[in-house]
Amino acid sequence: MTAPLSIFKCIECSKEYDIRDIRYRCDCGHLLEVIHDLNISIPNAGDWKASLDGRMGETAFFRYQDILFPSLPKESIISLQEGDTPLYDISHRFPEFGSLKLKHEGMNPTLSFKDRGMVAGVSWANDLGCKHVICASTGDTSAAMAAYAGAVPNMQGIVLLPKGKISPEQLAQAITYGARTVGIETDFDGCMKLVQELTEKHSIYLLNSMNSVRIEGQKAIGIETLHQMNWKVPDWFVIPVGNAGNISALGKGLRELYELGIIDKLPRLAGVQTQGASPLYKSYKNGYAELIPQKAKPTKASAIQIGDPVSYQKAVGELQHFNGIVEAVSETELMDWKAQIDKLGISICPNSSVAVAGTIKLRDAEIIKVNEDVVVILTAHGSKFSNASVEYHEDSSNTFANQTKTIDPSLHSLEMVLDL
Ligand code: F0G
Repeated sequence: MTAPLSIFKCIECSKEYDIRDIRYRCDCGHLLEVIHDLNISIPNAGDWKASLDGRMGETAFFRYQDILFPSLPKESIISLQEGDTPLYDISHRFPEFGSLKLKHEGMNPTLSFKDRGMVAGVSWANDLGCKHVICASTGDTSAAMAAYAGAVPNMQGIVLLPKGKISPEQLAQAITYGARTVGIETDFDGCMKLVQELTEKHSIYLLNSMNSVRIEGQKAIGIETLHQMNWKVPDWFVIPVGNAGNISALGKGLRELYELGIIDKLPRLAGVQTQGASPLYKSYKNGYAELIPQKAKPTKASAIQIGDPVSYQKAVGELQHFNGIVEAVSETELMDWKAQIDKLGISICPNSSVAVAGTIKLRDAEIIKVNEDVVVILTAHGSKFSNASVEYHEDSSNTFANQTKTIDPSLHSLEMVLDL
């Protein structure tokens, strides 16, 4: 019998499972990782790399599929044309960096990076013949899952949301894409616990990032960025961290590129959290001795208001592999940096600005050195979080507030308000 192209492998005890098993954890309780035999899917890395430039007409998932998830049959793939997101070079505004680039994952079909994972996860569910898919969410996973499940005939999405803790735009996405939407009087960690209990009991396919198939799709973010940079590896990738799936995906994709010899050095990773929801940061400060789950405090970066990150162990593995660090930022820092990046014409969400604020903080502390090249992963579009923006700009005490003015409908008043 020939070896399978892809398997599940436990990140703790290395026990292996069939890739077509529906399971998210090993019998020992730890998370699984998908391992592909990349020597089969990419027999000649040089040829594969050379072929990519000629494949820009293909949707990103198809272009990179040989490294992302080669076992997924092409006919099962449900794509909404995610990927090929902009990589903005804002170095001219930030001369204190060697270069500073923003990979804008908010420019995906449902306006967040979650589409990268759902093209893999929902397509795999489709191939397995799953009729029901589910996730707990702070609003972006649910939007993406609802959209991709909606695109599959006879597939029903179900989303569990912490009631009152996601933005109206995110809620509208889940509803309009047709997901059965349940608000639960708890926080994200409470929803996450419940969804795990439910999927242990009922055959409903779980599409949170603890499903390692989703992580395979999210590897595309780092891989596509490096392709856009002509495979010149930056010194740093900086990324916001909530449930810690995306930093795990970033690390895994970069590791695989390195193992294939597509890139010749590894960047460093920096994960950034808010000060009120910073279990990974606290663990980092403590030498990763242990994860102490916390009750995450409310934050404008509501998508990362998470106190018990499911992919903690994977994230720590990647951070250690990439000589990584973890930073935490305040509400003022993250909202002030959101305003400053928005004003460049690049609309970002408060979760993304956590990473921007962290980047500046690390540069100020000279951990990121002058002349180092940095890529910040922006995870969602500002338009998904308009309340946070409006509240910031209406409060004149905020440093970068751009208050609206209301006048009576007269030319005189208009001239007055415009100082004409
Ligand atoms: N940024 C945004 C916009 C997010 O929606 C999330 C996570 C993250 C960053 C953090 O990524 O969890 O992989 O570390 N949102 C999840 C959700 C939890 O349900 O939408 P992570």
